Amino acid sequence: MTEVVIVDDSEQAGALVAGAMVRLITEKADAVFGLATGSAPLPVYTALAERVSRERIDVSRVRGFALDEYVGLDVAQPQSYRSVVVREVVEPVGFDPRRVHVPNGALDTIQGEGERYEKAITEAGGIDLQLLGIGTNGHIGFNEPSSSFASLTRMKTLSRQTREDNARFFDSPDDVPMHCITQGLGTILRARHLVLLAFGEGKASAIARAVEGPLTAKIPASAVQLHPRATVIVDEAAASQLTDVEYYRYAWDNKLEWEKI
Ligand code: F6R
Repeated sequence: MTEVVIVDDSEQAGALVAGAMVRLITEKADAVFGLATGSAPLPVYTALAERVSRERIDVSRVRGFALDEYVGLDVAQPQSYRSVVVREVVEPVGFDPRRVHVPNGALDTIQGEGERYEKAITEAGGIDLQLLGIGTNGHIGFNEPSSSFASLTRMKTLSRQTREDNARFFDSPDDVPMHCITQGLGTILRARHLVLLAFGEGKASAIARAVEGPLTAKIPASAVQLHPRATVIVDEAAASQLTDVEYYRYAWDNKLEWEKI
């Protein structure tokens, strides 16, 4: 079953996930993290940066693979996910930028990029912990509704909804690129542990459909139900349309310490 953890706020979620990441780094100095961008994982990166600095944790061998990137957007632009990953993760936490990979969205090499990225993940030994956010339409990565559960890293057309949701980062909605390259649902399902974060009422419907709804390509995030180790961390607002909340709390409260994320 998907482990659902209901937290008081995003700060508590950040501390919880940063704790799991620190444990992993302690056990495996070259741990491989799957990195999401967007607002949901920010509290994780903030908490991780704080712990790494305070406890002088060596992160020099940690490796990372971003979930996705826009296609045809200059990587030097602040909205490119390469820029976002450097600004919000690599620099604050102190990861080695040479060990953190982002799919290359350059138009002239995009055709073979999916395969190259898959190969790089495989050669790194796979992703240990994959962070995920969720779109209001149920996407994870940029796997829009109708994505195959078996899909691997490839180019996709962004939905109107996603382009509208992301317009806040651009000067005008028309500036949001039409295409992206994203790890597929099949790629994501190969990671050893999935951690999906969602906060706020706007994500409540997508979360309920992903966790408790039927497995369907209409809600790509429902793919997490297929994963043997998936943790969904939500605040009260994002949990507000779940029906089994009482059980999730009860299960969490009665978990043995080692069982928790
Ligand atoms: C980002 C990504 C997307 C976001 C999702 C939610 O790398 O892959 O799936 O996680 O669009 O974004 P936020 O958290 O900004 O609402």
